Amino acid sequence: HATQPAPSPRCAATALPAGMDAAAAAYFLGGAGDEITLRANERAWRSIGWLPRVLSTPTQVDISTTLLGQRWPTPWLVAPMAHLRLAHPEAELGAALASAVQGAGFVLSTQATVPLEAVADAVRAEPQRGPLWFQLYPYGGREDWWRLAQRAQRAGYEAIVLTVDAPLQWPSAREQDAGFALPPDWPQPNLPAAAPRGTLETLLGCALRWDDVAWLRRRLELPLVLKGVLHPDDARRICDHNLGDALIVSNHGGRVLDGLPATAQALPAVLAAVDGRRCVLVDGGLRCAADAVKALALGADAVLVGRPVVQALAQDGARGVARFWRHWRDAFQATLALLGCASPHETRSVTLIPMTDATP
Ligand code: FNR
Repeated sequence: HATQPAPSPRCAATALPAGMDAAAAAYFLGGAGDEITLRANERAWRSIGWLPRVLSTPTQVDISTTLLGQRWPTPWLVAPMAHLRLAHPEAELGAALASAVQGAGFVLSTQATVPLEAVADAVRAEPQRGPLWFQLYPYGGREDWWRLAQRAQRAGYEAIVLTVDAPLQWPSAREQDAGFALPPDWPQPNLPAAAPRGTLETLLGCALRWDDVAWLRRRLELPLVLKGVLHPDDARRICDHNLGDALIVSNHGGRVLDGLPATAQALPAVLAAVDGRRCVLVDGGLRCAADAVKALALGADAVLVGRPVVQALAQDGARGVARFWRHWRDAFQATLALLGCASPHETRSVTLIPMTDATP
């Protein structure tokens, strides 16, 4: 079939391709409440600028990165996202394989529409791939999560990403207005138990707590990554009590609780609290490679990208995702070179400045 036009490599507010089901678009693009946090995420990266030194262009740029003790081709991963089949029939398999070919990591959601083993088999055969992690939602009881984590480990996932910022979720205003609902018989081959339903009390009773994290941590052989940390005291607690190997500064892309700070704003205090004791990643509102450079310049070890990958997948399946990451990598390397940095780590010495008029 005819090649679709390549997505623009420019930074742009995420919009799904024309023709996509409006209800699905509301699901992918929407956020909680008045979407204040959703908007703040994107704006915050744009409000950071830099003041580079001239005449110090590197002769080579090496973007490979160490994460959880292993060397990987790039410092970025696809954020875990549920229900990618709503964007394109190639779904999680297409997104994961295209990302692997382009050296990007991939975090598979518990709510993926493809069995976790199928994604692992496809990705692990790719020699240039990035890390492959499994995101765990604590459905059911402790033994259910434990079995799912073991299943991910047997399949070859290299870390468990435990999402700690979403004990409750309900449809956003955009989803409600658009009448979003999952189609009947929607595939959920990794859900260990029925998603909790019922009264608020039932949901609150199922919510993850610190002792659950400690329990999982003790039993798990794989590295544990805690996703959704914003408060520096929580970051300190994770380090002091050895509750995880890495943490992800995230507000769930503004999808759970509105009024949270932009992740670019929350990141510095978390980094200060962690003080180099753990690997720190960040996601939320990263729309182009320059945003990723800013995250690394602030001190993050790597970034995760959500909605832009859905946009690329919706546009042209796995091919769209591969093209997206190619543009991203080219722009990232060029940006590093123009900043006089030979590696992601060297961005930490770039002088960052506030940008006052950063509206695209
Ligand atoms: C998500 N996110 C998410 N996070 C998670 O831990 N488990 C999940 O199943 C999902 N599902 C999900 C679906 C969709 C459609 C989106 C957009 C997001 C949150 C995701 O991992 C990440 O934190 C944010 O998406 C990052 O923000 P950006 O890059 O989308 O702005």
